[in-house]
Amino acid sequence: MAKRDFGSFHASNVQELLSLPNEKYFPPQVPFSLPSIILDDHKNSHGSLIFGREIKKRFFLLEDSCCFLNHGAFGAALKPGLDTARQWQLYAEQQPLRFYDREVMPFLVHVSRRMAHFVNCCPTDLALVHNATFGINSVLNSLDWVAGDVILTFNITYGAVKKLVKHICSKTGAINREAEIQFPISGKEEARVLIDGAHALGSLPLDLKSLNPDYYVSNCHKWFCSPKGAAFLYVRPDLQHEVRPAVVSHGLGSGFNSEFVWTGLDDYSSFLALHTVLDFWEAFTPSAIRTYIHQLMRDATDVLTKLWDTKLPAPLQMFGSMALVELPKSIHQMFETVDYSAAETVQNTLYHDFSIEVPIKSLQDRLYVRISVHIHNQLSDYEKLGRAMITISQKRKHNGE
Ligand SMILES: Cc1ncc(COP(=O)(O)O)c(C=O)c1O
Repeated sequence: MAKRDFGSFHASNVQELLSLPNEKYFPPQVPFSLPSIILDDHKNSHGSLIFGREIKKRFFLLEDSCCFLNHGAFGAALKPGLDTARQWQLYAEQQPLRFYDREVMPFLVHVSRRMAHFVNCCPTDLALVHNATFGINSVLNSLDWVAGDVILTFNITYGAVKKLVKHICSKTGAINREAEIQFPISGKEEARVLIDGAHALGSLPLDLKSLNPDYYVSNCHKWFCSPKGAAFLYVRPDLQHEVRPAVVSHGLGSGFNSEFVWTGLDDYSSFLALHTVLDFWEAFTPSAIRTYIHQLMRDATDVLTKLWDTKLPAPLQMFGSMALVELPKSIHQMFETVDYSAAETVQNTLYHDFSIEVPIKSLQDRLYVRISVHIHNQLSDYEKLGRAMITISQKRKHNGE
């Protein structure tokens, strides 16, 4: 296929390359050698993969001294992914015109195609964006809201999204209704549904073809462990013509993917690093990773609820990679009022006195810990948390507080 030059002004070729069937598509040659993911030394004598401390040391930058139980907040990037991102940054600056005007688009197409394959959708239905917030803003700001339209959110909708919806309503006269979440969730015939799957990629099997959503957003920089600044937006083909990126630039009018691929001069290294992050997931396999996470979640919640004599606020099968566990009675007794500041006190004590990074939440007069589970965690992390909580309550008792 004859190729035109690429670049911010020639982004229309992006559409063509994304549309090519696999047998007609030839990936571009990466101009340096990429880290390769080797599994052999991560298998035990039975050939099963070893997760936990070994993986933490080898594949993450996470400090060994910190018991890191808050992957859900800002993720934690894979080292080889960061290496790839850095290599792209260095390469780009060696000849910025060559990189931005001639080379970057085919490489972005390549990672987009791989990502689309991973989540089982057509490459032309997926746009890489820097974070879930950008994707959600793009969709909501593209719709032609008129006074009286209803935007339905849930009590558990992410805070920043609630603010965005309120902002749109104040500008347009649309009405925001908030519903208590109820399962199963079903879209009404006439309603468009935007799924905020910010935590989904990497924590559950994502199959967009069978899900067939109107709009779907997921971060890559959370459970998928890519460098920060990588997410994707899926838009159903028949709705793509009306969705504009939150920032409009050269691609305007050249098609859905071309519009999103260039939103002003940017650092694309987090997108390009997806190549290595996908290599990692393919090598370890999503099912082996999830099996480890879900088993560790069962074991961790079991350890904590037994040690603290408490319970989970919802059935275990409702938790994927994060769970809330109620704190022991003795911790509640330390506070006259069980509120945000009580939660903050416990969280800070865990951080400062025990090097445990984990969020504490206060909900309806009860305190809960929100544990995250990923492949860099192991059961001893949660045992440490369990013991620390007991120590905190005993110390307070001892001090007569
Ligand atoms: C449910 C949900 N939606 C959206 C976001 C926003 O993600 P980002 O800050 O990467 O845009 C988050 C971040 O934690 C989230 O948990």
